[in-house]
Amino acid sequence: MKIGIVYDLIRWEERALIDAVKKLGHDLVPIQVNRKVFWLTEPNGFSELDFAIQRCVSFYRALASTAILEEQGVTVVNSFNIIRDCEDKLYTTLKLSRNKIPVPKTAVSFNRETCLNIAEKLGYPLIVKPIFGSWGRMVSRALDKDSLLEILDFREYMQSPYFKVHYLQEYIDKPSRDIRAFYFWEEVPAAIYRVSNSWKTNTALGGVAVEAELSNELIELVKRSGDVMGGGILGIDILESKDGRYFISEVNAIPEFRNTVRVTGKDLARLMIELTIKNIKQ
Ligand SMILES: Nc1ncnc2c1ncn2[C@@H]1O[C@H](COP(=O)(O)OP(=O)(O)O)[C@@H](O)[C@H]1O
Ligand SMILES: [Mg+2]
Repeated sequence: MKIGIVYDLIRWEERALIDAVKKLGHDLVPIQVNRKVFWLTEPNGFSELDFAIQRCVSFYRALASTAILEEQGVTVVNSFNIIRDCEDKLYTTLKLSRNKIPVPKTAVSFNRETCLNIAEKLGYPLIVKPIFGSWGRMVSRALDKDSLLEILDFREYMQSPYFKVHYLQEYIDKPSRDIRAFYFWEEVPAAIYRVSNSWKTNTALGGVAVEAELSNELIELVKRSGDVMGGGILGIDILESKDGRYFISEVNAIPEFRNTVRVTGKDLARLMIELTIKNIKQ
């Protein structure tokens, strides 16, 4: 098969995927988006690809290059719609909730006064998140009305219009960890706890990965959540409450998996390629 790997930076994950494609005996077509011209009005020679794995760190590059590849006839994993829906936390929460997947209580508002109404319902602490972003950046916890107003004040002076969409969420009082589960084409090949002293458990912020053995109930929840978001290759984040309930916090459509491979010993890059081939052939 001819398999494209679409990327802007080469992280450990992209290197692992490139190696896996080669080791499995397929033809690798690296697509380094920063070095390419993408004609919108002419073919770009992608039509020979059987599929491409999208790995751009930049959301905009990922979305733009996926749109071009798809419109020019290439199956991209994940698809344009999945990347867009997962990247946008507002949309992810809406979609999961509409499909009866448990998510923390969440509301959106566009000005500070109405945010105070949300806060009255959610209580403090509550979480304020950018609708786009990762690595825990600018995800904030308001401990009381004053700190909420301060956070909103910062957001309203940011240049990007996205910060003026205030996404407020119930704080889940979790143990000092959350769960990252991988969903590959209706399978759940691996999961980790991200253990941290900080309430933000991102490994990018020092959260420590520990292998997690998921209950059948949790595996089912991960599968249903992945299906709702459209399938493919996903990293699904789960918060546990102290009274034993689970909530889906977010879904990543271009997930990092280095730490999961390190602590579980599972070859996720190889599995990603193998399961994609199997599911695309069907
Ligand atoms: N509602 C919440 N209650 C408690 N902790 C949360 C909540 N939402 C997020 N967190 C913590 O903050 C971290 C970052 O939030 P997340 O929504 O995953 O943003 P990012 O996309 O930047 O990773 C999560 O990994 C989790 O530990
Ligand atoms: Mg996250």
